[in-house]
Amino acid sequence: MNRFMTDRQKKIFDPTEGNISKAAEILRRGGLVAFPTETVYGLGANALDERAVGKIFEAKGRPGDNPLILHVSCADEASLYAEVTPQALELMKRFWPGPLTIVLCAADVVPLAARGGLDTVALRAPANPAALSLIRKCGFPLAGPSANKSGRPSPTRAIDVLNDIGDSVDMILDGGETGIGVESTVADATEPRLAILRPGAVTREMLAEIAEAGPCSPDKARRSPGTRYRHYAPSVELRLWEDSSQGVFDGESAWCYMGMRKPPKGALRTTIFATPEEYAHGLFSAMRELERCGAKLIIADFPDMPGLGEAIRNRLSRAAGRQ
Ligand code: TXA
Ligand code: MG
Repeated sequence: MNRFMTDRQKKIFDPTEGNISKAAEILRRGGLVAFPTETVYGLGANALDERAVGKIFEAKGRPGDNPLILHVSCADEASLYAEVTPQALELMKRFWPGPLTIVLCAADVVPLAARGGLDTVALRAPANPAALSLIRKCGFPLAGPSANKSGRPSPTRAIDVLNDIGDSVDMILDGGETGIGVESTVADATEPRLAILRPGAVTREMLAEIAEAGPCSPDKARRSPGTRYRHYAPSVELRLWEDSSQGVFDGESAWCYMGMRKPPKGALRTTIFATPEEYAHGLFSAMRELERCGAKLIIADFPDMPGLGEAIRNRLSRAAGRQ
């Protein structure tokens, strides 16, 4: 820590054992701690403490009917907070810790505030050593939405958390840049056929090894709170470059670009990703950087590919205001 740091910057700490213990203490007292996961940064609070959960909604400016994910360290812990079916247990054994959130029937101990008033609860064990160590030290589940202001791109670096909600958070554990870069897959497992509410790095093809899985029905989508809100949006317009789309670049001057294909000349700034993994990893930080480069428009390549491509397309189309 150097003496030129602002008070807000002084909230960022390396995830040493000592600092993780301090973070657990803050959470025990009802505070907010942002923590790294393998997907994006989470904004943690004691999920069993209604007041602490309320602070999350306030800090993010998040609608109260949009439920939170409970972060646990293992399947045994999950069974304290939800009805873990044999199928859900199989999913946990195969994909946890990892980027899969499973929606199940909730146990009564989970406050309604954390589950947006629903009778279901979303659970996930993150594959990040600092996050797992924090959850174990706490001894309670961590409610953890992405640590951004509601509607903004998710944070993949500690500095993004600081920029969005630095004033509301008590501490930020800095685990460096997150690996995957897009949020976990959310799968509703309350029925035998898995309904994918949000695509992520655990792809539909991977889930199909265990159970039939597909996009959720329009009816379920209507009832699924997270799908109702505009999301992931930078502060300038984002426009999609689809395979078929002609003329997205025509007549534009102050534009910048991100994607896997090479764009025509003329961008103020260009960010090229070599693989879908790189695109997912850099998607949100590129949005945050490009919105600061003075452009009026971000044009984003919209890759038509299965697997991780589905997650990339989902985030881009929502950032572009579709759905
Ligand atoms: O990767 C991630 O999942 C990150 C890291 C921090 O773990 N977290 C995250 O949380 O993205 P959040 O709150 O930004 O997104 C959770 C999504 C929301 O779309 C929410 O509506 C949905 O999960 N969700 C949570 N509980 C649900 C439930 N009981 N039924 C249906 N959807 C639910
Ligand atoms: Mg989010």
